[in-house]
Amino acid sequence: MKILFSFHLPHYLCNQVMTHLDLSKSTTSIEHLSKHVGQSVTLRGWVANKREGKGIAFIILRDGTGFCQCVVTEENASSNDLEIAQSLSLECSIEITGNVLADEKQIGGVEIQVTNLILVGTSENYPIAKKEHGIEFLLDQRHLWLRSTRQWAIMRIRNTITFAIHEYFQKEGFVQMDAPIFTGNACEGTSTLFETDFYGQPAYLSQSGQLYGEAMAMAMGKIYTFGPTFRAEKSKTRRHLSEFWMIEPEMAFYDIFKNMDCIEGFLQHVIKRVLENCKHELETIGRDTSVLESSLKTFPRMTYDQAVRIIKGDENVNGVNSITSLEEELAKTQAKLQEIDAEIADREAKLATPGLKKGEINFHQTKIIQLKQDKTDIEEDLRNIPQWIASAKNFEYGNDFGGSDETVLTRLFDSPVMVYDWPHEVKAFYLKRNPDDERFARGVDVLAPEGYGEIVGGGERETDVNMLTQKIHEHQLPMEEFEWYLDLRRFGSVPHAGFGLGLERLVTWICKLKHVRESIPFPRMYGRIKP
Ligand code: 4AD
Ligand code: MG
Repeated sequence: MKILFSFHLPHYLCNQVMTHLDLSKSTTSIEHLSKHVGQSVTLRGWVANKREGKGIAFIILRDGTGFCQCVVTEENASSNDLEIAQSLSLECSIEITGNVLADEKQIGGVEIQVTNLILVGTSENYPIAKKEHGIEFLLDQRHLWLRSTRQWAIMRIRNTITFAIHEYFQKEGFVQMDAPIFTGNACEGTSTLFETDFYGQPAYLSQSGQLYGEAMAMAMGKIYTFGPTFRAEKSKTRRHLSEFWMIEPEMAFYDIFKNMDCIEGFLQHVIKRVLENCKHELETIGRDTSVLESSLKTFPRMTYDQAVRIIKGDENVNGVNSITSLEEELAKTQAKLQEIDAEIADREAKLATPGLKKGEINFHQTKIIQLKQDKTDIEEDLRNIPQWIASAKNFEYGNDFGGSDETVLTRLFDSPVMVYDWPHEVKAFYLKRNPDDERFARGVDVLAPEGYGEIVGGGERETDVNMLTQKIHEHQLPMEEFEWYLDLRRFGSVPHAGFGLGLERLVTWICKLKHVRESIPFPRMYGRIKP
């Protein structure tokens, strides 16, 4: 990157931040610019990009609501303003005033003809350049990385999802509750608890607000929690965070089937809102929305039994067999790799021919970088597919699903699928047994398509105090910590159900991210606590 600040700059450029900015001045935001065509507006934000020519500077301004091109010339502004504009570097903060012109070719369909420019804060040697950076570097720079276009779009989608979640439950008459974060007991197994010191007593960071949610549902009828949740597994997979946000509705007088209706209505509402309100953001991150659209139809529901038959290839889905379709995909992927290798070799040969124009060299080089990126993805598939085939063939009835099993199953569908009635041994202590077949607990997992797997876990709750007591013993949980929970069954016990959605898992799928770490502003995961 060109260093734009040097000792011969005018003195006002050496200020770190301008202190006499008139903050009472009325300003506009970029997202509303199209309503101001033909008017003069003031915008405040940061320099996302800049190009300059003789007597002209083009600034891409971002203000958090969007991006727009601002053109600075001596005629419309002043020579002073042009000088400032030409010396701006990435992420300088500025205030500009200018006329809004309609221009279909520009982002947002408008362009600003700048009449006045104020430098607010300088930015020298911004560490995130336009070139590619490694993921660990970007995570170390997360406080700045959040300003990048792609991260900006993801966070805006996350915000839309959060709003849509509250909107859905509030409209449906649920009461939002805040469950405690310090807890005395485990909810989802003792192996993933973060222990803290609570005035000399051990306490744990909440793994789930569910048990408290059940108490509140008996007071309010229908509730939902939306809070931070902690899991201490030393897992480095692409879907595990140590700290994440979970939404946990709990409903009195609901069984597993009404619970599944609720999950489906809820998820579809959220997906619809993202499709309606985040068109630009989805485009920015290159999300093909066809699977989100096909997720607006009924989600397939199947028992664990049926899901296992499908995974093992003993039952087809719409004529497609899990194992043979994976084998076909493996062959296709191998062919694709050969094609890519051939194209890379071809372009490299072209680059070696003498007398190539600069434009042609750039063109081939860019293509090669793209092809090599595609190649890494394909090579990853080539490593994964044989594992998926093996784990599907060898799946042992009675086990919980692993990531591979979820992938094998969900790739046969173009919407989330719901799997219910799980072997009770592999699920949490609080789930009710299927009254018609005691081997199964009435849990439900919602598995997202496109290889994303579990986004929701839930189920109908055990109402029988003796059955629960027995389960607490079996799971070797401290009985005294659960006495209050057992009270819920002693005093007016009713059928009830609920579920937990991991916000980041949903954001990751909706945005089709490679890793959950990009779905949360400051990820906390095994090996990362900073920044
Ligand atoms: O399946 P889980 O463990 O279920 C519960 O905690 C229940 N108490 C929920 C309920 O019935 N009220 O977690 C629920 C969801 C998962 O499906 C997943 O989306 C998310 O929480 N989740 C995680 N997300 C990111 N990182 C992790 N380590 C996660 N663990 C669970
Ligand atoms: Mg689960």
